[in-house]
Parts: sequence; C-alpha cells; structure tokens
Amino acid sequence: MKPLVFVLFAVFACLVGCGPTGLDESGLPQPRPELAAKAGISLDEMGEGYWVFSRKCMECHEARLPKGQIEGVWHPVVDGMSGNAGLSTSENAAVVNYVRAANLR
Ligand code: HEC
Repeated sequence: MKPLVFVLFAVFACLVGCGPTGLDESGLPQPRPELAAKAGISLDEMGEGYWVFSRKCMECHEARLPKGQIEGVWHPVVDGMSGNAGLSTSENAAVVNYVRAANLR
C-alpha cells in the first residue's frame, strides 16, 4: 500500500511541476525511472525519498541537495540534517537514496 502512495505522489508532483528540466517548483529533481535505475534503486524508493525530502528537509531552508558524488562528502550532511529533521532510520535511508539518484541527473 505504502509504495503506491509514494508513486501516486510522485506522479502527482510530476503532473503539477514536471517541466523540461525535470525539476519541481522548489528546484528538486523529480523521481524518474532512469535516475532510479542509474542509482540502482526502484522508482518507489526514489519516490519515497523525494516525498520525505520535500516534507521534512525544507522546514528550515529551501531545497538543498547535498552535492558531491563521494558518499563520505554528503552522507555526514544528510545524517546531521536528519537529526535536525527528526527523520527515522528508514526515512534517512530513503533520503540518502533519493539524493544519490537526484545527483545523477
Ligand atoms: C531544524 C532545521 C533544519 C532541518 C529540518 C534541515 N536542515 Fe539543512 N540546514 C539547517 C541549517 C541551520 C543549516 C546551516 C545554515 C545554513 O547554511 O542555512 C543547514 C544546511 C544544510 C545544507 C548545506 C550544508 C553545507 O555544508 O553546505 C544542506 C545540504 C542541508 N542543510 C540539507 C538538508 C537535508 C537533506 C535535510 C533533510 C534531511 C535538512 N537539511 C533539514 C537546518 C535544517
């Protein structure tokens, strides 16, 4: 049931905001099958991370995608920010997956 909700959310977000850039109105890359595939995750997983990110990571600042391909560079950022955002372990993992996929665009 849960994954369906995330996919619906992603599809809805895409209907609303999918431009030629693939960015939503906050500048976040939207979940796309090819990005998910490149990151080795499912579209559901990317959608879940996108959902968590857009709900929880934009409470204090605008959308900020930790940059850098090297895991060690941005993992600490997400982990620290997860503490800020009060994310659960699985939400944290979803955000990490999403950021990894989003940075492949
Ligand atoms: C409780 C408030 C709060 C929440 C929630 C929050 N952040 Fe932040 N974030 C900050 C503050 C404060 C800074 C540092 C000051 C600044 O640059 O605005 C920051 C900075 C950042 C930076 C820049 C770090 C750098 O080294 O340049 C990134 C990337 C970031 N946040 C990502 C996230 C992500 C991803 C989430 C969700 C998991 C998140 N933030 C949730 C408060 C928050």
